[in-house]
Amino acid sequence: MKDQKKELASVLAGALDNLTEEEITGLIETPPDSAMGDFAFPCFKLAKIFRKAPQMIAQELAEKLSGNSAFAEVKNVNAYVNFFMNRAEVEADVVKSVLDKGEDYGKADIGGNKPVIVEFSSPNIAKPFHIGHIRSTVIGNSLSKIYKALGYDVIRINHLGDYGTQFGKMIVAYRKWGNEEDVKREPIKTLLSYYVKFHEEADKDPSLEDEARATFAKLEQGEKEEVEIWKWFREESLKEFSYVYDLLGIEFDSYAGESFYSDKMPAVVKEMEDKGLLQESEGAQIVDLSDYDMPPALIKKKDGSTLYITRDITAAIYRKNTYNFYRNIYVVASQQNLHFKQWFKIIELMGYDWADQCVHVPFGMVSLEDGTMSTRKGKVVFLLDVLNKSVEKTREIIAEKNVPEELLDQTAHDVGIGAVVFQELSNNRIKDYTFSWDKVLNFDGETGPYVQYTHARCASVLRNAGAEADDLIAGKITPDMSKVTGDAAYELMKAVGRFPDVVIEAGDKYEPSIVTRHIIDIAELFNKFYHDEHILVEDREERIAKLAVTAATEQTIKNGLALLGIAAPDRM
Ligand code: ARG
Repeated sequence: MKDQKKELASVLAGALDNLTEEEITGLIETPPDSAMGDFAFPCFKLAKIFRKAPQMIAQELAEKLSGNSAFAEVKNVNAYVNFFMNRAEVEADVVKSVLDKGEDYGKADIGGNKPVIVEFSSPNIAKPFHIGHIRSTVIGNSLSKIYKALGYDVIRINHLGDYGTQFGKMIVAYRKWGNEEDVKREPIKTLLSYYVKFHEEADKDPSLEDEARATFAKLEQGEKEEVEIWKWFREESLKEFSYVYDLLGIEFDSYAGESFYSDKMPAVVKEMEDKGLLQESEGAQIVDLSDYDMPPALIKKKDGSTLYITRDITAAIYRKNTYNFYRNIYVVASQQNLHFKQWFKIIELMGYDWADQCVHVPFGMVSLEDGTMSTRKGKVVFLLDVLNKSVEKTREIIAEKNVPEELLDQTAHDVGIGAVVFQELSNNRIKDYTFSWDKVLNFDGETGPYVQYTHARCASVLRNAGAEADDLIAGKITPDMSKVTGDAAYELMKAVGRFPDVVIEAGDKYEPSIVTRHIIDIAELFNKFYHDEHILVEDREERIAKLAVTAATEQTIKNGLALLGIAAPDRM
């Protein structure tokens, strides 16, 4: 696809000797409304250079460029020169690019296969996979797809929270009040109830906390019985997590979680010691970070047990050695900002120049309409229940529409799951937000079902067009885009044409919602086009041009949804 802005800059550079193409590019604006042109060039800053009033410069420039065949029209308005591109040419360029590339439209070759780790989801075993975990899971999944699309070699890691003192608590509670059958039948809910019970009892009898610590220490030392119970909890939990991952269609390359690093930590602790980073404080080993305005990082407790942060430092070094990552991305809640700042600093202090290749991608909290969640109190909403309920509700809604019986299950799944994922990815990730059923399942608002429905609408138009649409998509017919240059079609094709840049921006900013917002815009523009114009008109040339608009839209929405981890059903 042509880079319109770049072409404009080069034409302008030819007309303005005193400015480089780069400087000119920095000045070019995109008017909010195409009625004012596709691009605007303000001349205020040129006044000094040319010692002339900006209005005059603009007027002269407009006159000079008026005859240029690159533009349909060049207009001078006050101190601006407004450029109108040749609509048919722009549209033809976009359509050709999308239809030629198909599923690859939006992909780029900027990564050069450099390894990028995306660590995401990382739930704690024996604890519920609740609605709070969905953010890391879907943001991370989408980022991994975006990075892959940008040409990186992506490694998806689930850093399971399968180690730490809480397992001491869980084992103590299981021994005191638990039984095997319950755990087998409903592992996570049962284990959670033990955890809740432990905290209730520990409020009354604080010695339970010591017992839990001692039990975890035994686990770390590899005591057979503790290790066996822990392994079993882990397996049962993973089974349950995998229902959620299956529903979401998410896979990982590695489940190396916290426990994976248990035998690798001593060497790293020793290395920190050798490098003079450790200090003793009340029997524990810490890294003093006061020079960096941060509280000290506790690396090893008095009883010799390690901590969450020790495992993160060890994991990062392991990953560098194993994958030689170009980026090591952590999709983890903003509550852990300090934790990541602390240990990124420690990696740097250890002398690793790759510290700045580690990136924390934080996100805000999800709350429920009726208040916040608390794992300790057992007040949680299970993600699996939310997903299932969404599929069920969607099924009721679409059963009334004209989805064929045999497609009902699959469509309900695609739309129900897509609705939840889409809502997660529609807001800037850093914002806190409240989960709402009404918002999730709306077919009209800025929701997943709305965008999927728009995609299905495009697919239906193409189906109705039959062989003609197939030939067009296969490149056997070249559309004459001058037959459809109305504002709606033009705006729509410009938005479709921006899609590859949008994907790059989303990757740069680690922000999938940039893709989400853009495909909402495309869907809205298509629906405007659909309402303004009749697509399957008598005139063959016009019909084909409109089908080309429709096909390019369909492909782009589909590719956009795929980057979010959402299916694009053909019928709804
Ligand atoms: N298991 C942790 C939790 O649920 C998240 C782990 C984040 N990843 C990391 N490398 N620290 O809070």
